[in-house]
Amino acid sequence: MNKLVTNKTRLGFLASGAGSNFLNIIESCRANALNGLPILLISNNSNSGAIQIAKQNNIDYFHISSKTCSDPDLEITRKMKEYNIDLVILAGYMKKIGSEMLAEFPSRILNIHPSLLPRHGGAGMFGEKVHRAVLESRDKKTGATVHLVNEEFDKGRILGQLEVDVAMGDTAESLASKVLAVEHILYPKIISEYIGQINNT
Ligand code: GRF
Repeated sequence: MNKLVTNKTRLGFLASGAGSNFLNIIESCRANALNGLPILLISNNSNSGAIQIAKQNNIDYFHISSKTCSDPDLEITRKMKEYNIDLVILAGYMKKIGSEMLAEFPSRILNIHPSLLPRHGGAGMFGEKVHRAVLESRDKKTGATVHLVNEEFDKGRILGQLEVDVAMGDTAESLASKVLAVEHILYPKIISEYIGQINNT
């Protein structure tokens, strides 16, 4: 376990996929753009890019899913507590956060969603589906939202948003890459602001 004595906020991550937001936040911490220390990654996907990123950056990681244990929510909560995590960052995590985690980390779990919530959020709205819904709705703008996590998918308090224009000829793929680019600007900024708020209360 990491016993570093520091005034930095200890960040724990949950991620299922490529992990570009995870890497971007690690790099923002390293550049002192945010006052956090990436401590731990938990992934439900043993093949995730996020696990590779944890390995390459010497961050402890665990694969926890319903295949590895009978109660993933409890196991994730135990690990986050064992590592004294202050703030939990969901970075492309595809599973719902359970009641143990919510009880143990009230207002301490952040998520990023690839649309301007409350538009195009909720159960089943992830990845390409979100961007297809934007195109089908003929929205003129889309973007990214950082919000607190509560018991309902994508319904927690919104902490910040960044917009992108939907241009003629945009596809779900082109929107995904435009939105991901603004996620990489928005997420570290909002985490940094939120850490500031936590430390002042
Ligand atoms: C991002 O689009 C994020 O909004 C969503 O999942 C995706 C994760 O991408 N929650 P990455 O794994 O961080 O590259």
